[in-house]
Amino acid sequence: MTRVAVVTGVARGIGAATAALLTEHGWEVVGIDREKPSAPGDWHVADLTDPSSLLTVLDGLDRIDGLVNNAALQHATPLLETTVEQWDAVQAVNVRAPFVAIRACAERLAAVGGAVVNVASVHALATSANVSPYAASKGALLALTRAAAVELGGLGVRVNAVAPGAVDTPALREGFARQVTGDAERVLAERTPLGRFAEPREIAEAVAFLLDGTKSGFMTGETLTVDGGVMARLSSE
Ligand SMILES: NC(=O)c1ccc[n+]([C@@H]2O[C@H](COP(=O)([O-])OP(=O)(O)OC[C@H]3O[C@@H](n4cnc5c(N)ncnc54)[C@H](O)[C@@H]3O)[C@@H](O)[C@H]2O)c1
Repeated sequence: MTRVAVVTGVARGIGAATAALLTEHGWEVVGIDREKPSAPGDWHVADLTDPSSLLTVLDGLDRIDGLVNNAALQHATPLLETTVEQWDAVQAVNVRAPFVAIRACAERLAAVGGAVVNVASVHALATSANVSPYAASKGALLALTRAAAVELGGLGVRVNAVAPGAVDTPALREGFARQVTGDAERVLAERTPLGRFAEPREIAEAVAFLLDGTKSGFMTGETLTVDGGVMARLSSE
């Protein structure tokens, strides 16, 4: 029986790379995004800020072996200038949608011994200025990962997270374009012990590993940091 994976945020970046890699591994991928991806596939347009829009897609699926909560929203705003609306929008996509998706998929995941992978960020562990809603949402996503792992373990459903460092995606490039000084790209690469950004496929490999019960079958509630060594380095160095 072909395994079915639901992946959110598939139109570009890490989500697109994950959909492509899982397809290569023989998974049937059902993709969700607010934009239609250009690559061919089983894509569904839905806005994750609207739970009913997400549930309409999920309710139409018979079998679900894997759920990848990848889509995210980020605002680059100082904490004191962040509006409640901006805060809520980020939490809705980055934490509430994964919760809604996990709750909706749990029974079907349990039926086949499936798994969830939440794509968090190193900003869940340590962060920088002007990303407070994003950092808080990713911290909450790791806590949700652990909470769901504890509650769904008895059903045979594993729940893990990947915490990427800088990954060369449109979102990262858009962030650089907003920088005033223009040297953020160089500084970020220099502060990364491996001296470069990840390719989206390198994060997809970690997601695929955690999704596959034949490879990571005794892992749950875990966060796999894939960051080129960023979190290993003392900031005072
Ligand atoms: N790129 C990085 O450096 C980096 C670093 C750490 C973590 N991450 C995480 O990896 C994941 C993917 O990041 P990326 O860089 O590929 O992002 P991206 O912005 O390039 O792609 C995100 C996708 O999510 C979709 N999306 C956003 N809001 C949506 C909504 N409301 N409804 C439906 N779809 C929506 C977008 O349309 C887009 O296709 C995110 O969770 C991000 O936080 C990225």
